[in-house]
Amino acid sequence: MADLNDRTALVTGASRGIGKAVAQRLAADGVRVAVHYGTQEKAADETVAAIERAGGRAFPVRADLSRDDAVDTLFEGLREGLEGRPLHILVNNAAVAAAPTDPALAARPDHVPGLSDVTSEEFDRLYRINVRAPFFVTQRALPLLADGGRIVNVSSAVTRIAWPLLPYAMTKGALEMMAPRLANELGGRGITVNTVAPGITDTDMNRWVHEIPGAEASISGLTALRRLGRPNDVADVVAFLVSRDARWITGQLLDASGGMALAPAMM
Ligand SMILES: NC(=O)c1ccc[n+]([C@@H]2O[C@H](COP(=O)([O-])OP(=O)(O)OC[C@H]3O[C@@H](n4cnc5c(N)ncnc54)[C@H](OP(=O)(O)O)[C@@H]3O)[C@@H](O)[C@H]2O)c1
Repeated sequence: MADLNDRTALVTGASRGIGKAVAQRLAADGVRVAVHYGTQEKAADETVAAIERAGGRAFPVRADLSRDDAVDTLFEGLREGLEGRPLHILVNNAAVAAAPTDPALAARPDHVPGLSDVTSEEFDRLYRINVRAPFFVTQRALPLLADGGRIVNVSSAVTRIAWPLLPYAMTKGALEMMAPRLANELGGRGITVNTVAPGITDTDMNRWVHEIPGAEASISGLTALRRLGRPNDVADVVAFLVSRDARWITGQLLDASGGMALAPAMM
């Protein structure tokens, strides 16, 4: 996609999973990508190395988004890596979906953890990483973001489907409020702001899909396209939203779940 050749992007949580696939796809389209990560330096270095092996350009940026100084740390690394270039694309992807009880049990579709399982510490941690961080990362990115730029926030189908993990779903509901409001505020600069909502995707967040017998088949059965999502399925949608072809789409929520839970379970 030639129109992205002189572009730069910050993809948060790009060391693994969906963020890694987004970073690789954007780099393949010609974008110079800041591969943000929290703790897994080796995984981030592997993302950068894979991009470079494929002929792309990328650099790693570390910042633990649960910390108060995260935004300062992140933008220090970003400015250094951009070497004076503006930022064109921001993908707020990093998030955690910690289960309130035993992770394997809590993530099962047939297990609904109670409100009493959630500690205030865990609730606050989810909000810091999933809501507070993308809000303040976006705030700090705006002066660096070129006119005509793109912002994509990664939410989840959990705002549409009554899945367990209530605090996680609440954080994604809050995140989804950003796109329409910011789209309106930033439209005068030609900046688009959209949200992508994946369904269950095969990443570290969902190890339970491979650990619980029959889970993959159940998830596939809940999905119109009859399989588990792959990180690339979501990355390609993000790549479209940041492309010139998507210039007239802003403030929108795009479901990228393969048609998960479109009908009642018995149909
Ligand atoms: N997988 C799914 O089924 C699914 C479904 C719907 C929506 N989503 C959304 O898609 C996005 C990506 O999910 P994923 O499944 O790819 O996740 P993942 O494989 O668990 O990767 C999470 C990424 O976020 C980073 N991260 C986590 N906590 C962080 C922190 N405190 N500070 C900085 N970085 C942090 C991780 O960095 P480190 O490597 O350094 O830990 C990693 O790069 C998330 O917004 C998630 O809510 C996922």
